[in-house]
Amino acid sequence: MTEKQVRVWCDGCYDMVHFGHANSLRQAKALGDILVVGIHSDEEIAKHKGPPVFTEEERYKMIRGIKWVDEVVEAVPYVTTLETLDKYDCDFCVHGDDITTTVDGVDTYHLVKAANRYKEVERTRGVSTTDIVGRMLLLTREHFKRGDEEYSVGKGVSSSLGLDPSATHPFTACSQFLPTSRKIIQFSEGKEPNPGDKVVYVAGAFDLFHVGHLDFLEAAKKEGDFLIVGLHTDPVVNRYKGHNYPIMNLHERVLSVLACKYVNEVVIGAPYSVTQELLSHFDVDVVCHGRTPIAGDVDGADPYALPKAKGIFKSISSGNTMTTEKIVERIIQHRLEY
Ligand code: CTP
Ligand code: C5P
Repeated sequence: MTEKQVRVWCDGCYDMVHFGHANSLRQAKALGDILVVGIHSDEEIAKHKGPPVFTEEERYKMIRGIKWVDEVVEAVPYVTTLETLDKYDCDFCVHGDDITTTVDGVDTYHLVKAANRYKEVERTRGVSTTDIVGRMLLLTREHFKRGDEEYSVGKGVSSSLGLDPSATHPFTACSQFLPTSRKIIQFSEGKEPNPGDKVVYVAGAFDLFHVGHLDFLEAAKKEGDFLIVGLHTDPVVNRYKGHNYPIMNLHERVLSVLACKYVNEVVIGAPYSVTQELLSHFDVDVVCHGRTPIAGDVDGADPYALPKAKGIFKSISSGNTMTTEKIVERIIQHRLEY
């Protein structure tokens, strides 16, 4: 007789999904066999803590894209009940070691805690939605007023590029997250391509990993069997994006991309232009880019000139118009409204 699989339940808002959320789901999955994630509807979140920045459809999609998630349950209630756990045949519920309360100040996990069907995992220090929003609001020096509060967002190119430890630029100095090799190993798949696998290579900033990236990576994965994502360094992204981009530093972007179920491997600090060395090293069969504009290299050259000349470049559509800039705009708008 086979033993019953342990089904683990997690729930939350998962607004502005970041690698802290992914890390909690990774730890939860390790406590059982099947991970079921319940996500609150827009209406339910609005009732308890004000409207989310991302729509429920976007939030459901982001969690479905995380590699440790087996099932997603849409529109679950804010307070986790035993009925909910039983309905989805889950043995226990897992949450980070912080207290979540309802609009009336009640611990949302009091019922499952009392029934001994609650386990805690360590919350990832140094990353939260509040922290990421704070970094975005530092982005331009234009002033946005709401009541007595004033938000400033920086313009112009960041000069120190985070090389100076005392720098106050967002992509390094504002990040309190301490990346370790252990965390990268925990997020990695650790597998090489199988013989004969078609290897797909894509590169980019993947800053504030979002639904547009997710749809793009899903489409890219369909072009082959093994997907490698090259991530540009912070100074490189800053060169072509300007302002104080990227919002998330290289280490953080690595973890977000590794958490995506379509990704098999990440190149940490990939060259901006695709080189022969890179193509040979990873035995790349096809190089893809979405329909967003392609910025030139330092000398103005097309970074995809080589794969284009070799006839292995493919432009693919994500069918999604989300961009990092749109997220920043949305956050600022949201801040002004609420
Ligand atoms: N979580 C975590 N580490 C973080 C942020 C969130 O482990 N840095 C966990 C929470 O403890 C919870 C799950 O992610 O178990 C999803 O919760 P959600 O309600 O979306 O998270 P928040 O705590 O609101 O996340 P944030 O503070 O980033 O908004
Ligand atoms: O802009 P960034 O470098 O993060 O983009 C990484 C990749 O994702 C690029 O190939 C880009 O064209 C693609 N993308 C997409 N659809 C979006 C956003 C990005 O295809 N909405």
